[in-house]
Formats: sequence, C-alpha cells, structure tokens
Amino acid sequence: MNDNHGVSQLAGRSIISLDDLSLNDIQAVFETADDINANMQSYFGKATGKIAATLFYEPSTRTRLSFEAAMQRLGGGVISTWDVNAASVVKGESLADTVRVVGAYGDVMVIRHTSDGAAKLAAEYSPIPVINAGDGGHEHPTQTLCDLYTLREHHGSLKGLNVALCGDLQNGRTVHSLAFALARFGANIIFVPGDGKEIPEYVLRRLKRSYNAHIQRERLGILSALFEEVARSDESATVDAIYITPREPHQLAMSSIEGTTVEFRVNNGESLSLYVTRRQTERGSGASSGGRYPTLTANSLKGIEFKNISILHPLPRVDELSPEVDDDPRSLYFRQAAIGIPIRMSLLWHVLGLGDETTVTTKKPYTQEILGLFYLHSGFDCSNQMCITNQERRFANPQFEVVKDGEYKLRCLYCDQETPGTYAGNTESKFYYPSELLDRFLPTVRPEHVRFFQSQEAAESAGFKRASDKWDSYQSKANDSGKDWLDMVSGSAQ
Ligand code: NCD
Repeated sequence: MNDNHGVSQLAGRSIISLDDLSLNDIQAVFETADDINANMQSYFGKATGKIAATLFYEPSTRTRLSFEAAMQRLGGGVISTWDVNAASVVKGESLADTVRVVGAYGDVMVIRHTSDGAAKLAAEYSPIPVINAGDGGHEHPTQTLCDLYTLREHHGSLKGLNVALCGDLQNGRTVHSLAFALARFGANIIFVPGDGKEIPEYVLRRLKRSYNAHIQRERLGILSALFEEVARSDESATVDAIYITPREPHQLAMSSIEGTTVEFRVNNGESLSLYVTRRQTERGSGASSGGRYPTLTANSLKGIEFKNISILHPLPRVDELSPEVDDDPRSLYFRQAAIGIPIRMSLLWHVLGLGDETTVTTKKPYTQEILGLFYLHSGFDCSNQMCITNQERRFANPQFEVVKDGEYKLRCLYCDQETPGTYAGNTESKFYYPSELLDRFLPTVRPEHVRFFQSQEAAESAGFKRASDKWDSYQSKANDSGKDWLDMVSGSAQ
C-alpha cells in the first residue's frame, strides 16, 4: 500500500450529492482508487469487523453488488435488504425508523430509494454515515465518481473535455449528478435528449447559479449521426442540445448571446465523450418509439470525426446502445462498471476513516452548503410529489433555498426542485401580497419576517390578510435601486 495517497475529510461523513465532496476529497478518493488498482491485495482485511448495511428499495445489479464486493474485499461484512418485500417497509415502517434501527447494526449504510431526497432524509436520522446509491430521479453520486474516474483515465483531463449527455436527461439521476460534476471540473456539456426527455429546468438553473455555467442553443453538427432520421434528412437540423461552458469573469459580457444558435465546435472528436443512457421507464418515461431517441450503432459511429471519442453508459442498456460496439476500443462502459470496485472500496475506506491513525468514525452531522438564503419555516410544501418530504411527511423537515428566476421560488434542499412562492406574507403586519412586491419595499422586509405561499388560500388559512392591490403605492419609499429583495437580504447579487 502506498501511504502517500490522498487525505480526505470524509471520515464519518454522509455522501448524498457530489457537492458533498470537495475537489480535494474527490482527488483523494481517486488517488486511493489508483492505489487499490495497483495494490489491491494490500487492502484486504483492512475493514475487518466493520459492517456495511445495503438498503435497496429499487432494483440494482452494479451498484449493490460492487458496494458489497468492495466491502468484502476490504475484509468487512455486509448486511442487506435487497428485496424490500422482505423488510418491514411492507408493514408500513418509515424510512426514518428503518435507518435508525439499521444504523445500530452497521458502520456505514448504502441506500437506494424510489423517492427524490430519500438519502438526505436517511442521513438526518441514521446514526452512521449514509452513502446515496441513487435517490429517485435525483442524484447518483457514486456512479458519477465511476464516470469521472473512467473519463480521467481515458482522456487524461476533464478540463475542456466535451461530454455529450444523451438520452433520458429528464429522469436520469446519473445524468444530473454527472452534469454538476462536469461543470465543476470545467468540462463542456452538450445535452442531447430524446424527444420529451429534456434536462429539467431546475438542473439548468442550478448549473447556471452554482457553477456559473453559460448555456446556449447549438446545432447538433456531427452528433446528428445519433439520430438516424435526422442524419438522413438534414445534417444541420437543430435538435435540443444545450452547450455549457464554465463562464470566466471576462466572458460575462457574452451572456447576451444566450439562446442563439451556433455550431457544435468539436470537429474531430479528439476530446469528445458520448454518455448514453436508457429511457427511465420506471419513472414514467415511455418504453419506446415515442419520438426520436439518441442511439449508438456501429453505423452511427463510422465517420472519421468519431475516431477518437469515448463511449460511456452507466448500464443497464436497453436498445439505445447496440452490442455491435461492445468490442470497439472506444467503448468504455464495461470498464466503467468494473471501476465500481476500486472506487467504492476507496469511498468506504475514506468514509470509514480506515486511513486515519484511529479508525474512529463518529458520524458527522449532514450539512449542506448553499450560496443563497435558507428558508426553514414550516408550512410550505415542495410541489414534487416524488420528493421524500411528501412521502414521509411526519419525519421530513422541509428546507428550502430562496431563489429568484423571474419570480420567487423555493428550491427544496431534499430534491432540488423549485416551487413558486407566488405570495409573500409579512409576519409582523400579517398582510400578504404577490411576492414580487417584496422587491419594492423599503425598508427591506427582513427574511425572518417573510413567509412564502403557493396560493392565496394557503396564505389565508395561515391567518394572513390580502393587502390592497395598491399596497406598493402606499409605501413611503419604493426601492428604485434596481436590486431585488433577495439581492438586498443576501448582501450579494444572485
Ligand atoms: C443507473 C441507475 O440506477 O440510475 N444504473 C447504475 O447504477 N449503474 C442507470 C440506470 O438505471 O439507467
């Protein structure tokens, strides 16, 4: 074992989103994975006496088996509920109770669940660290580590690499986590969705807001080969593809070109990766034929411009990736699946603190860093019905970030989706009004005095009275500074 491999801050921590890992943590996980690849045997037996609990509320092959194999290669044990029909959930047990119970049996918990945000809720209740192995259509951070490691191994660097995320971008959790990671590492992302499977607006907004990404509409260019019917008819067809590149301060002036159509710039594919995904039928994506869907075949990749690309797929595949390309040296997806072992061994190693002098792993509380304003008041519901806050109402404690995107919205800190806060009420005056009026008031209404509501009925049932339509004109001083309420109370431009 090489003792010089990276030091992370991951001991005792839950990993719910890739955002929970600093660049240094990711580097450390990769360095340990490199060392595991080179010296696998020296890691055997290092986790003797430790137990990983794998709680899988959804089917899994790669993620569960590679986590379990990883733990066993480290010498630890595994307890598993891979068939939830055999667990107390069928008797109506809540996730919160299950993780409190299972947390007493193991040292680390790996969880996959049908609800968006379930892993965060689990981390809040579990006495041991929780690793998210996929929460609904939301995120899948450990798959992203496998994806990034594969890309890094093949292409050397992620910076400047062009990655075309193809297929079901709406419901594909691997796509969401990978997009955030690629933006962080300075890769360019091209979204190539199937018809009706576009990347959700909330993902795009988070990319813009948190990663300073610049988004513009593109022609498909060489990527039209992924759509046979487009290639046959019109090579320059504009299909929904969106190009993101990290926005350097000097590029800010370019934001005026957002929305314009420009040519996709990769000509020879020397730095292009195609990340292909299946339709997520279990999350409501139609099984087949409903419109165009990017598909890879030997034929679609025969052009010289694809000579040096790489092909990734989180697997399982259905019909979007032909087995004809399996033996092609550009195809990395089985390597990507195999990388699950060193990456997950490395993750368990770091989370269990096995590299530390004392392998004590007191669980650290799960905290999220957000750029903007927290909204922690009760009485506002996330509008995403698949969000765990709507599934486990007795245990979830809804938390939001206030964002302004034309209108005021509350971004759920469990599932990331945004719900309009159409009305705002002032807890001092007990009046409510359309929330855009907040921007006009001086003195600024203090955040602790603001309650958001989705509807007038919600405001009224909370005991607030509708302010007159002329409310803003009664204000002695209107805010004409051009700054909005959120700018003023956050103390910085959003
Ligand atoms: C993915 C998942 O479960 O989200 N599979 C995986 O973990 N490798 C992708 C998928 O199911 O399409």
